[in-house]
Amino acid sequence: MRRSKTGSAPRPAPRGRGGQVATVLTVAAMTAACSSPSSVPPSGEPSAVPEAPALWGLQMTPVVPVTEFMRDLLQPAADTLFTSVSVVVDKDGESEYGPRTDEDWARLRTAAVTIAESVFLLKIPRPIAPEPDRERHETELTAAQVLEKLQEDTVLWDARIQAVRNVALQAIDVVERRDTEELWDVGANLYQACQNCHYDYWYPAQRDLLIELEEKVRQFREQSGSATP
Ligand code: HEC
Repeated sequence: MRRSKTGSAPRPAPRGRGGQVATVLTVAAMTAACSSPSSVPPSGEPSAVPEAPALWGLQMTPVVPVTEFMRDLLQPAADTLFTSVSVVVDKDGESEYGPRTDEDWARLRTAAVTIAESVFLLKIPRPIAPEPDRERHETELTAAQVLEKLQEDTVLWDARIQAVRNVALQAIDVVERRDTEELWDVGANLYQACQNCHYDYWYPAQRDLLIELEEKVRQFREQSGSATP
């Protein structure tokens, strides 16, 4: 069932379509595997592609830690997409809202491009949280633990980044076609892509709780005979 999308923190999207998310992630994983350093031929082997300079400039240096990058850059842009469509239910029934004017669509494009381009900046090593760190919930890893996990598995980190970029590319395409209906999928896919990285690196214990909960719901449905085939 659809609900109005309001608020700011990453949260369950109103109308998830699991299949689409899985497709996005599969493509992401493949793309990431192709572009990971392990696919570069060992030095000495001839390479068909001429060497290009890695960057048009000297160095990439970060300005803010990961937490502030999220709060000040990714989250506001994501919010623009999360709240792009909504359904309001009141005494007069259901009304659906979406972008109407050229400015509305331009705002969505700005958000999609911001995410598509900026998410790659997460490849630059940077501190996870400012010093001193805030207090943390027991299901969260500490900033030091997040950093340790990341350093252990930068390939997965890269795949999670790529997954967000893929959804942002989908968003750009949907905006270009001005397809209001597909904005629902964009919101759901983006939410899932953000969450997947958070589950891997920030609060893995919450994913375990979620899996447990889903299993209980499944068992309950089976017992009460309401399971769908
Ligand atoms: C590649 C991994 C990765 C991706 C992709 C990612 N995040 Fe994050 N995000 C993190 C990590 C790691 C933290 C938490 C760091 C900590 O507090 O230890 C975080 C924290 C946050 C926070 C909390 C910031 C604060 O003030 O403490 C918000 C909000 C957030 N992310 C939003 C998003 C949104 C929205 C997206 C998708 C558009 C997204 N993130 C995608 C890794 C990611």
